[in-house]
Amino acid sequence: MKTMNILVFFLFCCLSSKSALSSPSHYNAIFNFGDSHSDTGNFLLTGALAYPFIKNFPYGETFFHHATGRCSDGRLIVDFIAESFGLPYLPPYLAVAKGPPVHTGVNFAVAGATAINSSFFSSQNIVLWTNDSLNVQLGWFKSLKLSLCTTKQECDEYFKKSLFLVGEIGENDYNFPFLFGRTTTQLRPLVPQIVGAIIRAVRILIEEGAVNLVVPGQLPTGCISAYLTSFQSANESAYDPKTGCLKAYNALFEYHNNYLEQELQRLREEYPHARIMYADYYGASISIYRTPKLYGFYGGALRACCGGGGPYNFNSSSYCGQAGSTVCKDPSAFVDWDGIHSTESAYHYIAKGLIDGGFISPPLLS
Ligand SMILES: *[C@@H]1O[C@H](CO)[C@@H](O)[C@H](O)[C@H]1NC(C)=O
Ligand SMILES: *[C@@H]1O[C@H](CO)[C@@H](O)[C@H](O)[C@H]1NC(C)=O
Ligand SMILES: *[C@@H]1O[C@H](CO)[C@@H](O)[C@H](O)[C@H]1NC(C)=O
Ligand SMILES: *[C@@H]1O[C@H](CO)[C@@H](O)[C@H](O)[C@H]1NC(C)=O
Repeated sequence: MKTMNILVFFLFCCLSSKSALSSPSHYNAIFNFGDSHSDTGNFLLTGALAYPFIKNFPYGETFFHHATGRCSDGRLIVDFIAESFGLPYLPPYLAVAKGPPVHTGVNFAVAGATAINSSFFSSQNIVLWTNDSLNVQLGWFKSLKLSLCTTKQECDEYFKKSLFLVGEIGENDYNFPFLFGRTTTQLRPLVPQIVGAIIRAVRILIEEGAVNLVVPGQLPTGCISAYLTSFQSANESAYDPKTGCLKAYNALFEYHNNYLEQELQRLREEYPHARIMYADYYGASISIYRTPKLYGFYGGALRACCGGGGPYNFNSSSYCGQAGSTVCKDPSAFVDWDGIHSTESAYHYIAKGLIDGGFISPPLLS
């Protein structure tokens, strides 16, 4: 029995140290794909016609002191990750596409982007903010790659020391259908297709030479003030008594995350040389929603810092930054920035969960 335990320990120890060896001790570049949770300016550079408020104050007020195209008061998760590796903040692809090559990483994320091709939504008369879905972002990456390295060997060496963040992406594949009247029951069958689009992107990046990839799951979007306002219910049982969030919506996002984790496990078996990390944005956030004050969010977790009034300070006739909206004095005491996106301090908390390793598996670095 004792020998057995030692044997099990030995196997466990040596298997895990083997996989730890395949992660570098530092990253030289970050490539990010996603939506408004990580866009550092692409949507604004395309004109941001569907959501122009982000080009004005108070967007950016906390850290950059001017609007950058980030949908927050300050830094995003990807900014904190770049900081932690001593890398510059990722420039938006559309700002650098025609300039000299940038070797420390580029951001392809676009606010409003979907994981599934935009044509799928237009065929159902669902109008998106942008057509720059994940597939378009991958195309941008492929053209950028031509300026970064030439031979396969050179590319492989370079990408081995790069970190690829594939998401968060997919939230808009739910947001827009909800906005156009679809229900959680109707969207549940779409989960394999949304996750499938993310998995397809991960596979393409691995084929292009990516080795270290982080794939985040969905946030508990049933907690954001836009959802709490638009899908409010007179039936108390629609709400989770521990958080005040909408149960059916969060259950759908949890289902998405479980499905994604299963599919990532299959990819790990298919590509054993790749380090495929799952980032649990949901787990990191839900603890804040349960006990916001414990984490310093004295304004509570459900009311937006910036908005045009109403029980959750979200008003679709007066978005954050529009006439009639107000902004809280201390955004760091709030989780929800503008009803849809998080404050810098909430993003910082999630980023710490990735950098310290509490909410990512396997960890970012050995
Ligand atoms: C998305 O569109 C591209 C062409 O733009 C196509 O190659 C790809 O297969 C499509 N993806 C899906 C999941 O339909
Ligand atoms: C996306 O593409 C559709 C179909 O080509 C087009 O009608 C729509 O205007 C485009 N949307 C944006 C935001 O560019
Ligand atoms: C409230 O919702 C629960 C579960 O969804 C349902 O069983 C119950 O009948 C609803 N109550 C009312 C008053 O609609
Ligand atoms: C929402 O905004 C509109 C336009 O500013 C305003 O007339 C209305 O009173 C606001 N609603 C709430 C609940 O504050």
